[in-house]
Amino acid sequence: MAKAPSFKCSACAAQFTKWSGRCENCGEWNTISEEKALSSGPASKSLGARRGKSLVLTDLATQEEPPARTLSGVGELDRVLGGGLVEASALLVGGDPGIGKSTLLLQAAARFARNGLKVIYVSGEEAAGQVRMRAQRLGLTKSPVHLAAETNLRDILTTLEEENPDLCIIDSIQTMWADNVEAAPGSVSQVRAAAHELTSFAKRKGIAVVMVGHVTKEGQIAGPRVVEHMVDTVLYFEGERGHPFRILRAVKNRFGPADEIGVFEMTGKGLAEVKNPSALFLSERGKPTAGSVVFAGIEGSRPMLCEFQALVAPSPHSQPRRTVVGWDGGRLAMILAVLEARAGVPFIGLDVYLNVAGGMRVSEPAADLAVAAALVSAREDAALPAECVVFGEISLSGGLRPAAQTENRLKEAEKLGFTQAIAAQAAKQQGSTSLTLKQMPDLATFVTQVFGER
Ligand code: TYD
Ligand code: MG
Repeated sequence: MAKAPSFKCSACAAQFTKWSGRCENCGEWNTISEEKALSSGPASKSLGARRGKSLVLTDLATQEEPPARTLSGVGELDRVLGGGLVEASALLVGGDPGIGKSTLLLQAAARFARNGLKVIYVSGEEAAGQVRMRAQRLGLTKSPVHLAAETNLRDILTTLEEENPDLCIIDSIQTMWADNVEAAPGSVSQVRAAAHELTSFAKRKGIAVVMVGHVTKEGQIAGPRVVEHMVDTVLYFEGERGHPFRILRAVKNRFGPADEIGVFEMTGKGLAEVKNPSALFLSERGKPTAGSVVFAGIEGSRPMLCEFQALVAPSPHSQPRRTVVGWDGGRLAMILAVLEARAGVPFIGLDVYLNVAGGMRVSEPAADLAVAAALVSAREDAALPAECVVFGEISLSGGLRPAAQTENRLKEAEKLGFTQAIAAQAAKQQGSTSLTLKQMPDLATFVTQVFGER
């Protein structure tokens, strides 16, 4: 029988069957220690040696009361939460340092407190005075939020036990320190232990716990995603530095739809809700320019328009540049290859830059056609008509697949004054809007119809 791994690296969580001084996985020294097995006695003995207690089994048909929810009153936040904050739940809010997580959660804490919840905000990064100063700037000083500046998890849990709040915010999980774990704060073992303690505390006591998590350079919440598995809901707070727009995105939600987004704007007085994101993301658009294309997208449950901008220029490098912001780099390479192979538009020797305006990040495959349109438009130096939106997925064969929720996309475009849409050919006729809908069977037809015979 293979020996179960019982040694673990406290830096990267890799598991080994034997001890060594240096972790083979991450190269750190003196981070490997033995993990104690669940059963008493040596690890080689089976679990059966000691009897556990029997579990209480219930039927699937047993009716459960839906969990109680509280609305914050901030529509953009409540929607991402799936209709408000759920009691006895654990949430993780991840994002780059400085993106506005503390600001968002302090504002949310104040809202929930005003709506009658008892809220405790624990900051492990800032002193209570600093948090109070921020609250002053945000105009929240009258909100009955309880503050603490602490990193010792044992003291925090004791306080929570005594105070029994409805909501506790931990800012951030990387600063928390559990004294029963021998590792530095911020290490995988500490983050995992702290998140585990807080999550089980939330379930046991019926309170909602929100943990802030800083994201590492690779875009992961430190602690190889262990925290993501533990909690009920994972929200990411995204945005580009230099742009005021921030997007709160649900990437996992046990109590509501994932992929839902909320849009905020960072102002001098904190985060403001953006009720009409399409109008905002298109606000900087001037008259039609080559390389600019408006994509009619869907984010979660609602339509959202945004602008793709492409620039194509002769490359001085032997390996031309491909630079993307707000869209997947691999997907761009695929679209460039399909344009060349199936529509006869080569990009050899050309640098390609692609950007989504306003700091928005798009991941829908339906944006393929808008990206292709922006690339060809930039390359040919020919603008698309100003009042035109584009959407549709491109397959490797050069065919176009219709996107879901076509009608919602068209309605949003109509609302914002667009008169034309270019999309894939759909089997059934789409509902009625005043837009002229041009349906294309494949990429080659799209290129010749829009940019002329080549
Ligand atoms: P913060 O919430 O501290 O970020 P995080 O907790 O994710 O690290 O936000 C920091 C940035 O937000 C900082 O650069 C200043 C800016 N900011 C505003 O523009 N307006 C405001 O009202 C506040 C409080 C912060
Ligand atoms: Mg912070």
